[in-house]
Amino acid sequence: MTQHALIDVRVVSVRDVARDTRLFEFARADGAPLPDGEAGAHIGVHMANGVMRQYSLVHAAAAPKSYVIAVKCDAGGRGGSRWMYDELREAALLQIEAPRNNFPLAEHARSSVFFAGGIGITPIHSMVMRLQALARPWTLHFACRSRADAAFYDELSSMGGTRLHFDDESGRYFDMAGAVKRAERDAHLYCCGPAPMLAAFEAATADWPRELVHVEYFTARAEAATAGGFTVDCAKSNKSFYIPPGRKILHVLREGGVTVSSSCEEGICGACEVDVLSGIPDHRDAILTAAEREQNKTMFVCCSGAKSDKLVLDL
Ligand code: FES
Repeated sequence: MTQHALIDVRVVSVRDVARDTRLFEFARADGAPLPDGEAGAHIGVHMANGVMRQYSLVHAAAAPKSYVIAVKCDAGGRGGSRWMYDELREAALLQIEAPRNNFPLAEHARSSVFFAGGIGITPIHSMVMRLQALARPWTLHFACRSRADAAFYDELSSMGGTRLHFDDESGRYFDMAGAVKRAERDAHLYCCGPAPMLAAFEAATADWPRELVHVEYFTARAEAATAGGFTVDCAKSNKSFYIPPGRKILHVLREGGVTVSSSCEEGICGACEVDVLSGIPDHRDAILTAAEREQNKTMFVCCSGAKSDKLVLDL
């Protein structure tokens, strides 16, 4: 697998911040500053068990000395969070990928409203702290099953913009539709949380201007396109490939000697983005907005396919 540039880091601290939720702080092994981490950005963490996962940065900073991520132990997950939780300790060495940002903050918006569910607070924490530092207004709706699940509870609950919701105390789920209705019509709306919360957010914002709606996914949003039956021309390398049924573009190109970066291979990290010169992609990623999908200027070849007989890519 072709990798984004890797950085050797050391775990400098580990601490619990909520039930089954742990903060990990990484510093560069050689002591140098790390690449800038914008609000909403994530890093890829390569684990000793061979798994790679993306985790959002808790703080935004330029050339920081360390990155902090929050990991919720998911006993039923695919092994990433379990390994971090059970195995990763202070002083351990591992490799990470430099930050990418698929969930950028509109810093100068007149109004910003955030919706976070459970561990989905992580990227949103970096955003509200950034707006706080800029003295910009913000409102945060933070919903958890119970108070014990709320990471950064003390810090966030002391800030005037925070609205907390706990299912077990209120006896009902968070009212997403009502909260969105109360937002100002020119507000930028952001959501990160479990799948039911994202679905409620998408339904509640269906008639909101798309450029004001921002969602962060940490699992694939759609199945990869593997119908095949089309051709991909690589303009720069002057190579052409038939993509047969059952195959992904990324793998066919790679086997044919075309270098394409990749990381998650499920349309959520952004590593495999390629410019489209002609043709119509069948977009399956969780990154592009509806407007960007319609423009067909770019695509993610780890998961997306083609609606046209041919794609010409800038590769
Ligand atoms: S490899 Fe992550 S989006 Fe394609």
